[in-house]
Amino acid sequence: MTQKQWDAMDEFLTSRLLAPDAVLDAVLDASAAAGLPPINVAPNQGKLLHLLAKLRGARRILEVGTLGGYNTIWLARALPTGGRLISLEMNPDNAAVARANVERAGLSGIVSIVMGAAAQTLAKFVTDGVEPFDMIFLDADKKNYPDYLRLSLQLSQPGTLIVGDNVIRGGRIADQKSTDPDVVGLHEYFRLLATNPQLDSTAVQTVGIKGWDGFSMSIVSA
Ligand code: DHB
Ligand code: MG
Repeated sequence: MTQKQWDAMDEFLTSRLLAPDAVLDAVLDASAAAGLPPINVAPNQGKLLHLLAKLRGARRILEVGTLGGYNTIWLARALPTGGRLISLEMNPDNAAVARANVERAGLSGIVSIVMGAAAQTLAKFVTDGVEPFDMIFLDADKKNYPDYLRLSLQLSQPGTLIVGDNVIRGGRIADQKSTDPDVVGLHEYFRLLATNPQLDSTAVQTVGIKGWDGFSMSIVSA
C-alpha cells in the first residue's frame, strides 16, 4: 500500500461522510498562511475525536497541544451547552493563530487557550484543584507524554477518556532499541498505560493522509 492509495481512501471517506465545512477549511487555510506545520489530525480523525467526546458525554475537555486549533474545534463542537474546553499551547504564535481560529468557529466563549509549558500548566491545575476533565487529548511533544499522562491522571475522575495522538509514528515505536527521545518517551508512555492499575487501554494504528500513525485510548477507573 502506498501513501497515494491512503490519500485516495481518505478522500473517499471524507467526501462521503463529512459535511463540507467552510469554517474548518478557513481554519486550515489560516494555519497554513501563518506557516504552521500541517500536523493537525485528518478531517475524518477530527470527526472521530468529536464522536468520542460525544460518546463520553464530555462536558469538560482538556487538550495538551493546541497548534492552530483545528483539533480543538472538532472537540469543542462536541460539547453540550455549558461545556468547556481548555487547550494548552507552548508556542505563542500557534496560540495566536488558534485563538483567531476558535473565534472564527464561534467558540471563543467555551474554549480557553492557556499559554506555557504544558507540564507546568498541568501541575498548576493540580495544585489549584481545577475540576477534573471528562476527556483529555494528548497531542503535544511526544517525549513528554509520560509526564502529561501522570499529570492528566491527577486531573481525571472515574470514566475520564484519555486519547493520545501519534503513538505509532510510522511504526518507529516498535523499535525497542530506539534512542530517539520521542520514541523513548512513547515507550515509557506505553509502560505507564500497561502498568497503571487505574488505566484500561488500547491503541490502534491508522493510515491516511497523515501517513502511518495511531491513537492510544484509555479509560480511567476509580
Ligand atoms: C507531529 C506531531 C503531531 O502531533 C502529529 O499529529 C504529527 C506529526 C510531529 O511533530 O512531527
Ligand atoms: Mg498529533
